[in-house]
Amino acid sequence: MTTASGVELGAKRLILTNVAAARHGLLRSPGFARWAVPLLVVLLSLAGFVVTTRAVSDERRNAAQRRAAAQSLEVQGQLDRARAFAIGLGNALEGERVANGRRFAALEGSATTTVGLTAAMWVERVTHRTRSDYERRIGAPITKSPGASIAGPAATYLPATFVTGVAVRPGADMALVPALAATLRDPTSVFAGTASAVASLAGQRGFFVVQGARFGHGAGSQGFLVVFVPANWLSVSQNLDPHRTAISLDGRPLNGALASAPVAGRSFESLTRRWRVDVIREPRTALQATLPWLAVAWPPATALLVYLLGRGMLRRRRAERQVDDIFDLSPDLLCVAGLDGYFKRVNPAFEQTLGYEAGELLARPMLDFVHPDDRQRTAERVGETTEGQHSSEFENRYIRADGAVRWLRWNTRTMPEKGLMYAAARDVTENRTLTEELAASRGRIVATADEARRRIERDLHDGAQARLVSTVLALKLARNELGDATGPVVELVQEALTNAERGIDEVRELARGIHPRILSAGGLGPALQTLARRAPLPVTIEMERHGRLPENVEVTAYYVVSEALANAAKHAHASAVRITVDLDDRRIVLTVRDDGVGGADPSLGSGLIGLHDRIAAVGGVLAVESGPGVGTSLTAQIPLAPPTAADADV
Ligand SMILES: Nc1ncnc2c1ncn2[C@@H]1O[C@H](COP(=O)(O)OP(=O)(O)OP(=O)(O)O)[C@@H](O)[C@H]1O
Ligand SMILES: [Mg+2]
Repeated sequence: MTTASGVELGAKRLILTNVAAARHGLLRSPGFARWAVPLLVVLLSLAGFVVTTRAVSDERRNAAQRRAAAQSLEVQGQLDRARAFAIGLGNALEGERVANGRRFAALEGSATTTVGLTAAMWVERVTHRTRSDYERRIGAPITKSPGASIAGPAATYLPATFVTGVAVRPGADMALVPALAATLRDPTSVFAGTASAVASLAGQRGFFVVQGARFGHGAGSQGFLVVFVPANWLSVSQNLDPHRTAISLDGRPLNGALASAPVAGRSFESLTRRWRVDVIREPRTALQATLPWLAVAWPPATALLVYLLGRGMLRRRRAERQVDDIFDLSPDLLCVAGLDGYFKRVNPAFEQTLGYEAGELLARPMLDFVHPDDRQRTAERVGETTEGQHSSEFENRYIRADGAVRWLRWNTRTMPEKGLMYAAARDVTENRTLTEELAASRGRIVATADEARRRIERDLHDGAQARLVSTVLALKLARNELGDATGPVVELVQEALTNAERGIDEVRELARGIHPRILSAGGLGPALQTLARRAPLPVTIEMERHGRLPENVEVTAYYVVSEALANAAKHAHASAVRITVDLDDRRIVLTVRDDGVGGADPSLGSGLIGLHDRIAAVGGVLAVESGPGVGTSLTAQIPLAPPTAADADV
């Protein structure tokens, strides 16, 4: 039992864990983002389209309602003008003495222009009893409009006595126009000013505005002033479009042939009738037609923008992270320094090499960490750099936190507009030590070799040469002793003398090649003169007089001239050689130029390479210029003293 429930519990926990893991994994998996984001964008687009379409539709309906309200107010105003016209005309008739058609037309005409209505008539109430009096008075029978006589007698007639602006003859019975007759028979509504129902008069649709009035005195002075308002007068005087606006009176369409079903309307009471103004929806504006599509477009557009911005930021952040990694991992010393003389950022290699914390390096002026002897030239170099130049391969010494000296070689780039300087340095202390040791050992080797040569030369001079000289003297004495004698002994003595003299010459020549005695004895000037004199081609020397130079300098200079003259004689086919020696307090510059065929190539022999090594051993440099056909020029710069730290500013 226990085991079974334990297994069950374990399984349940496992399932729960799996669900949680699945949910967690789903949210974190890149696949989820790949389909969820586009889905969200599509949903937003659809929602935007629906909401915007509905908003546009609501706005159009509201606009129609507002238009209906505004137009109903306009129509009411226009109806008020029609009634004001009728009342005004009635008031004018009130005081008139003479009741006749011409006068009526004149009064009516004076009032029409301001309102735009032209058709009006004076209608009297005539009974069957007073009919003949009436017909006599107006000189015309009561007729059925438009002129046909009435079939049988009626209790009451409503003939139009005077008529203007409409084709109705005087005497035409308006009781036969039911809409008008119904209005005229209701005295209370007439008193309030009434509009008739829609009717047709002489073939024209419209309605009547009725006003009870008096005109003159006596018979016929009591009647109705009836103004005929053509159906289209309301809309034409308002500039209303009959395809978009309809006006109804008591439920009967008065005017307007709408292009589509009305969507909004406004009812109101006027002239004791119910009026209604209906409008159709306005066509969509360009903006309203575009808005739903804009709503569709903005989510993908925003998503695209966010994607592009995000991608740019991501790339930028990645690049920054890479720069940071390089900065942190670089074995070289990297820093950003301000033109104010302080470090702004240093990498870990900086801290390790100099043994200071980054905080301390940033807190103190940069020059504080530089070796006192190098501060001035460092400051000068920084000054040059801040003027916009790039500096490379500058070397100076820094003092470590533990007091040890480290040589750093710098490459810097300045950004004056940012007030910053980017610099990379490499610790070249070991290199420099090795180079210095190498130069010193080279110098020692050359010096030792020179010393050995000098000793051999002295030994030859004092030993073999001296013995040969005494042998020659002895042989000369022996030959003198022999006098004028002849024979094999004399010949042998003579031969021995000649050989001994030749031996002296050869030993002397040999000793000179090993180490020129005149150099040790007279210095560089006489030694070079001797070399020039012995050369097989004309040699000129330009050299200022000067005192003795350090021995290694004199020896080096001597061998440069010696090798150059030998080469000119051997290879150049030159006609002349020119030697110039320039000297200042730091170095000697020696140039040997021939006018031969040129084309000297150090790799083809050992002489020029040997010179190069010898000069390098004393800290100098050799330059060979030897274009074909333009002669050969050897220039050696030899320092008078061994190189110092300042010379390391390469
Ligand atoms: N003044 C010169 N004019 C023309 N060619 C020259 C001149 N000096 C040297 N050369 C060319 O350069 C080569 C190298 O010269 P280098 O002095 O090193 O060797 P080398 O004279 O041939 O032999 P050595 O070891 O005896 O000096 C020469 O072999 C020669 O071809
Ligand atoms: Mg040579």
